[in-house]
Amino acid sequence: MKLLVTGGAGFIGSNFVFLVLTERPEWQITVIDKLGYAGDIETLDSIKDKIQFVKGDIVDNELVDKLVSENNIVVHFAAESHNDNSLTNPWPFVESNIIGTFNILEAVRRHKKRLHHISTDEVYGDLELDDPSKFTPTTPYNPSSPYSSTKAGSDLLVRAWVRSFGIHATISNCSNNYGPRQHVEKFIPRQITEILEGRKPKLYGTGENVRDWIHVDDHNSAVIAIIEKGVSGETYLIGANGEKNNKSVIETILKLMGKPMDEYEHVNDRPGHDLRYAIDNSKLTSELGWKPKYTDFEEGLKQTIDWYRNNASWWQKQKSETESKYAELGR
Ligand code: NAD
Ligand code: DAU
Repeated sequence: MKLLVTGGAGFIGSNFVFLVLTERPEWQITVIDKLGYAGDIETLDSIKDKIQFVKGDIVDNELVDKLVSENNIVVHFAAESHNDNSLTNPWPFVESNIIGTFNILEAVRRHKKRLHHISTDEVYGDLELDDPSKFTPTTPYNPSSPYSSTKAGSDLLVRAWVRSFGIHATISNCSNNYGPRQHVEKFIPRQITEILEGRKPKLYGTGENVRDWIHVDDHNSAVIAIIEKGVSGETYLIGANGEKNNKSVIETILKLMGKPMDEYEHVNDRPGHDLRYAIDNSKLTSELGWKPKYTDFEEGLKQTIDWYRNNASWWQKQKSETESKYAELGR
């Protein structure tokens, strides 16, 4: 197996590379990452001799063509990934998420390679808080933000390339990930690092919004299962039954870090803020036999807090610029 991992210096992609090196040491890995604000080459420092790293942009058609031709399967994580940024400046999202995916699809088609496309549950829009239903592979697409609409666009391109050109591709749509090496702009690491720097966590709006949390290693073990057992043309939803509202997550972080559970601030809400996401993972569990390992959210959160405590030099590089951006938005 020769894998081309796009976005492998980002949060989920780098954790995927670490997991593959442990669980499938015989697989060869090439990472392409443009090392944008969310990509950090130091993240891959400890394994730099075990992989090939190429600093490059998936918008660069010639480079993508060459790298795809040299590998068997593309595992495509690279994307602009943060909703708040997409509300400030949507263009990089169109560029990386849609044009970048188009380039990969065309290279996969030309060289008859395989693609696994990493996507998000946000393509389905949101659910009401009191709605008993969850997202399934047949839920209609209804994205809310520039981020989720460009991810939805990229999924639709993949589906069209499967049907029209017969390329060999699978798609996965996963819920909210947490774990080590996540950029401090995201909800959980932002709150942990605010507390570590002596400030209060920041809750958008009322905090009743629900996210379906999954540990990043569980997301990536599901991706490995799809690479090994997934059926071409199929979509798999990845989730671990981890629904929690934002207020309760902040309270749990405060508790685990030894602070009073009400020591947080309410800040401006996100425009168009999706209310609730929830994944029905039954296709993944029944057809591919996948099971999550991190079933205790508090334990996973505790390990994540410890990682941020022990790796301050990794996240401090990102912190002040991130907080300046939030300050301008009153968030
Ligand atoms: P991230 O922002 O931490 O990492 C993205 C990586 O992609 C970065 O290293 C960045 O430099 C790279 N990248 C971006 N544009 C690029 C380009 N044009 N060319 C080359 N490299 C580029 O994001 P993440 O949270 O690790 O998300 C990875 C993927 O997983 C994304 O496709 C995202 O939509 C999807 N996803 C994320 C979550 C989540 O909770 N974070 C959940 C479901 C799906
Ligand atoms: O559902 C999958 C998606 O999850 C992925 O596709 C995205 O790439 C990923 O960023 C994530 O999107 P969210 O918008 O749900 O994640 P975020 O971490 O930005 O916010 C999670 C929730 O927390 C959301 O309801 C907004 C809220 N929030 C966020 C921040 C940064 C706060 O209340 N306070 C904050 O400071």
